[in-house]
Amino acid sequence: NTIHATPTTLGANAMATDSSDVRDGLIQQLETDRLLGARAVPIVPSAGAAKALTKLNTEQVIDCTKCSLCKTRTQTVFGVGNPAARLVFVGEAPGFEEDRQGIPFIGRAGDLLTKMIIAMGLKRDDVYICNVLKCRPPDNRDPSPEEITECSPYLFEQLATISPQVIVALGAPASKTLLNTDETIGHLRGKFHDFRPTGASLEDAPIPLMPTYHPAYLLRSPNQKPKTWSDLQMVMAHLGLKPPAR
Ligand code: URA
Repeated sequence: NTIHATPTTLGANAMATDSSDVRDGLIQQLETDRLLGARAVPIVPSAGAAKALTKLNTEQVIDCTKCSLCKTRTQTVFGVGNPAARLVFVGEAPGFEEDRQGIPFIGRAGDLLTKMIIAMGLKRDDVYICNVLKCRPPDNRDPSPEEITECSPYLFEQLATISPQVIVALGAPASKTLLNTDETIGHLRGKFHDFRPTGASLEDAPIPLMPTYHPAYLLRSPNQKPKTWSDLQMVMAHLGLKPPAR
């Protein structure tokens, strides 16, 4: 009897998970099994994913010097959350606060993203959150095409490792990078697109990707929030999620 339990919490802090996170995650999954009287999936893949993410971060991302952002960053911002997440949010790049603390989406836009996640009936620890760029562009300028080219392989590897059931791309840079398109976010949002992780064959089922507006844009244009909520409701329907009771 296989039950797709709510993803368990692994590695809730800034840096990628280490072996104690993996152990805690396994204990939590076994506890979920016990409560449900059934196997919550997947134990081995999630432990493997946690390890693979840690390896990617520590061996490649933390000391990356592939573009000039390494000269101005305080630290890299790899990603946080559940390595076995069913849902991954991808933003653009770390901002001031993210660069200082090493955690994605913790400034004002991050607060709004957290509210969006809670409105979907989830917690930040249930999902995985990362960005196209792992370093902050000075003064929060837009990422350059060269920076995206150098940095996006890390993102593609994160997504291939986690292999979520749905990806939400927040804003134009994330949506355009993941879908390899120049379409505007206004055109892209509101429907699922096929995302194929690097190395996936055409026979592998693609991962549904929902582009939506970036929380920082929603803070400037709150009248667009209903459109994003409608996008997120499509994601919830896909995952079988219900909003929390009020
Ligand atoms: N914080 C992030 O981590 N990413 C963004 O895209 C914006 C703010």
